[in-house]
Amino acid sequence: MTVRVPAKVNLQLAVGPAREDGYHDLVNVFHAVALFDEVTVTGAATRPTGGPAGLTAEDASGGGLASHLARVPLDSTNLAWRAAELLARETGADTAVHLHVRKAIPVAGGMAGGSADAAAALVACDAFWGTGLQHRELLALAARLGSDVAFPLLGGTAVGTGRGEVLDPAECGARLHWVFALSAGGLSTPEVFAAYDRIRPGAPAPQGDPVLMTALAQGDARAVGAALGNDLQPAALELRPALAETLDAGRAAGALGAFVSGSGPTCAFLARSAEHAHQVAAAVRSAPDCVHTVTCHGDVPGAVVL
Ligand code: C5P
Repeated sequence: MTVRVPAKVNLQLAVGPAREDGYHDLVNVFHAVALFDEVTVTGAATRPTGGPAGLTAEDASGGGLASHLARVPLDSTNLAWRAAELLARETGADTAVHLHVRKAIPVAGGMAGGSADAAAALVACDAFWGTGLQHRELLALAARLGSDVAFPLLGGTAVGTGRGEVLDPAECGARLHWVFALSAGGLSTPEVFAAYDRIRPGAPAPQGDPVLMTALAQGDARAVGAALGNDLQPAALELRPALAETLDAGRAAGALGAFVSGSGPTCAFLARSAEHAHQVAAAVRSAPDCVHTVTCHGDVPGAVVL
């Protein structure tokens, strides 16, 4: 049972002050892009219990990201493993499984690769075990696993509120062309949020941006580019200053928008066309911190059984 799942980029990430539970209220415009991981579930004879008996990972980036595989945990700290465990616990499934992840989404890259794998593991295990859960029940389990796990089940474009897990689908009226510049290192999401709290103490409640939503619905890429925004960007730049040069290289190549994706360190660029995306990618590859570029379009549907 194999499930394919997309990466996401945040077209707006408005971050409020830290809450008592340590999380931040967000307005988070998720957009699924055609960069996919695959999770395959097979039966494992080693244990007569539910949940995973093992997890393996393989590079599916065509070699450009082979080194990031070393950062994929192969034990219960992997969110995909926890997803299978949670589903087994909730449904009483008692066949052990093996999870195999083919990774093209960068690890710790701000594109929710780990969350995507968890979403894919939920869908794959659900189908494998035949639990018969409703889609909304899977969405609720996903939200318990992490703030970004529910969105890859939906895909498309959606506004996330709360800590990001309350999703409201939004319209994207045109195919958008993206370039992602992958960094030599990773950034830890909690560290980026902590830096944000230092930089912006007393941040106001996060607000959605109607200009962005109208531009998206109308499929006006130029207006989308002008309205893109990420409150976490100054924090990511503080932790990894070299990202500024990557962003500048994309702007110089005429990108309609240039910004850090989520908590970084991946940088995202909106291009005018598929051809322009290749020109922007060539330009940002010259930036010292950029180790690899990916060009792809959005939006795309969420997790699907292959
Ligand atoms: O929910 P998830 O486990 O993906 O979040 C990872 C970390 O990101 C949290 O531990 C927290 O530090 C930070 N976070 C946050 N506010 C959010 C989402 C995530 O502070 N809305």
